[in-house]
Amino acid sequence: MKTVTPACKPLRGTLSVPGDKSIAHRALLFGALCEGVLQVRNMPFGQDVLSTCHCLEAMGVAIRETTETLEIHGKGLRNPLRPPSAALDCGNSGTSMRLLMGVLAGQPFKAGLSGDASLSRRPMRRVAEPLRAMGAELSLQEGTYPPAQIHGRRPLKPISFELPVPSAQVKSAVLLAGLFAEGQTRITDNFATRDHSERMMEWLGGTAVLRRNGTSVFVQPSPLHAPDALCVPGDISSAAFFIGAALLVHGSDITVQGVGINPTRMGFVNALCRMGADVRIFNERESGAEPVADVRVRHSCLNPLQLKTADIPALVDEVPLLAVLASQADGESRFEGLAELRIKESDRLEGTARALRAMGADAAAEGDALVVPGGKRLRGGAVETYGDHRLAMAFTVAALAAEEETVLSDADCAAVSFPNFFAQLEALLS
Ligand code: S3P
Repeated sequence: MKTVTPACKPLRGTLSVPGDKSIAHRALLFGALCEGVLQVRNMPFGQDVLSTCHCLEAMGVAIRETTETLEIHGKGLRNPLRPPSAALDCGNSGTSMRLLMGVLAGQPFKAGLSGDASLSRRPMRRVAEPLRAMGAELSLQEGTYPPAQIHGRRPLKPISFELPVPSAQVKSAVLLAGLFAEGQTRITDNFATRDHSERMMEWLGGTAVLRRNGTSVFVQPSPLHAPDALCVPGDISSAAFFIGAALLVHGSDITVQGVGINPTRMGFVNALCRMGADVRIFNERESGAEPVADVRVRHSCLNPLQLKTADIPALVDEVPLLAVLASQADGESRFEGLAELRIKESDRLEGTARALRAMGADAAAEGDALVVPGGKRLRGGAVETYGDHRLAMAFTVAALAAEEETVLSDADCAAVSFPNFFAQLEALLS
């Protein structure tokens, strides 16, 4: 349990946030498949990223920490990884499990993948189906849930695959498996999910590995070489909590430096602009294969927000926080197309609506939509986080803007993506 008291001071100053979690997982996995060593700077060490590290180490990948960098000693595509001696534990991390399934599909051995109670309730058939079509053998509990058993083979059969759900994790699993296929794999993503895997493959292997055409990408097995050290951009999904807090707390003015501004992740900032928030992106630059910038945000009065299904992939992890902000807007917000939110680390759609109500706001989950009437100051109260890191951080932000204190059932789960979240927040408020 953690008690969060209302902010009695504005948030002010300049800060940076840990490296992007999505990019970090990919650096580890693609690094393991590179020829030679990939050096990575600004690697975030949240629990999810550590899960991917430990799984790779269990398969013989050497990962060494130096003062400034993490070195991933790649095995190359031709040399198989080492069969793990026990099931690979992915903890709470859906990205670890789904992307590792793509790697394991191309390894000539059997392996098991398991996770915590939350991950054990998340659907894996969406990944298993295309990987089976490529020739891997996979079994799941009740045909859907972890633990998974996978028996890979190589070469895999190339497939033409259209993403059936808006999931970058599913897309990335097939992209990784495509590196072990006999010929060209085609993947079509009509949802515009995050493209960090595609960018990293282009950076490591050029057009010999990945070509884009409209909403399709074509993958060929060809060696991956790191052209340079990789500096992981700050995670916009972590920065979002400080941005949200600054918007709600009177007098706040903060700048977050070195944040990733990949267009497939910019839905949150775009939504804030539509709400009339004072957010400015400046000092834009490139970092490896990803665009980076500084973000300045000042306390603002917010308009309500309407989100449609097509808006969701670019802000999927920021929906609970946007709902908190919408509760303080002067009118009704409606977010549609939130089916994927129900199968995240928790049912985030229901969890968000309940937590808002627990703090005195009106909110309702209606099918796949969330309706937030807005216009009512948050009171504070007892909030259930369901052990979900994004709910814990979103409702810490809500608690700062409330009239009275808020008690979160479990706030330590923030460490899944952002271990120093509370310390950084306190530093900004002091
Ligand atoms: C992620 C993709 C998204 C996102 C998750 C990280 C990734 O999940 O919610 O936090 O790194 O590919 P889905 O692929 O399930 O949409």
